[in-house]
Amino acid sequence: MILLGVNIDHVATLRQARYRDEAETFGGFIEPDPAAMAWLAEDAGADGITMHVREDRRHVQVEDVQRYQEKMKTRLNLETSMSLEMVQLAQEIRPESVCLVPENRKEVTTEGGLDVRGNMERASEVVRELVQNGIPVSMFIDPDPDQLEASAEIGAPWVELHTGSFARAWYDSESRQRELDVLSEGMRIGTELGLRVNAGHGINYENVEGARKLASIYEFNIGHSIISRSLTTGLVESVQKMKSLLNE
Ligand code: PXP
Repeated sequence: MILLGVNIDHVATLRQARYRDEAETFGGFIEPDPAAMAWLAEDAGADGITMHVREDRRHVQVEDVQRYQEKMKTRLNLETSMSLEMVQLAQEIRPESVCLVPENRKEVTTEGGLDVRGNMERASEVVRELVQNGIPVSMFIDPDPDQLEASAEIGAPWVELHTGSFARAWYDSESRQRELDVLSEGMRIGTELGLRVNAGHGINYENVEGARKLASIYEFNIGHSIISRSLTTGLVESVQKMKSLLNE
């Protein structure tokens, strides 16, 4: 069974679009509430919740994460950059896992994978610190053999393969299979290296048909399409539908 992690960031994006200057993050006229949506996603069958606290706090706030944790039913996967400040914050939040992602201030959402090979020293320091404190770490990387090997070399227990190129290629019959093959190979190499292989970014209700063929992916982290669909169907339906499509 492939697990589904629901990324709730875009609920916070919607709230921030109107209420970023308010002192409170929920209650009264302030909506929507990311914590409430995370609990609802869990009730609908999400196997975990992912939140990304960005350095510029553009969507999820630390208060959202803490409120979610008060009544969480599954587990929190916290996405964060490798900066000193953010790794310290991750230690304070104590999620069930951390996914290390690159952060570029101009990007709308996480764009490329992390360059583990180019940042071996810092990456291994962060992985060691978190893993020693009982927090498994996942490296968000492109399905590139060298990045997979670098992740294994620094002792990261998990990786999350960036599925953005696959998602874009889905609508082009020529590159669709090529990108699927690249992911498949990444999955194979990661598994051989002893890594737990997750995947995510850009997965939607159409390309999930290809994504689910990557049967040894442990978990897909999916946000934008689930939250988008929930605007018409409600979150319970959108989570249930994605979960059943992943495992059809
Ligand atoms: N995985 C990671 C590491 C991400 O940063 C994101 C959000 O950009 C996702 C998964 C989910 O991507 P999407 O919102 O496109 O489903």
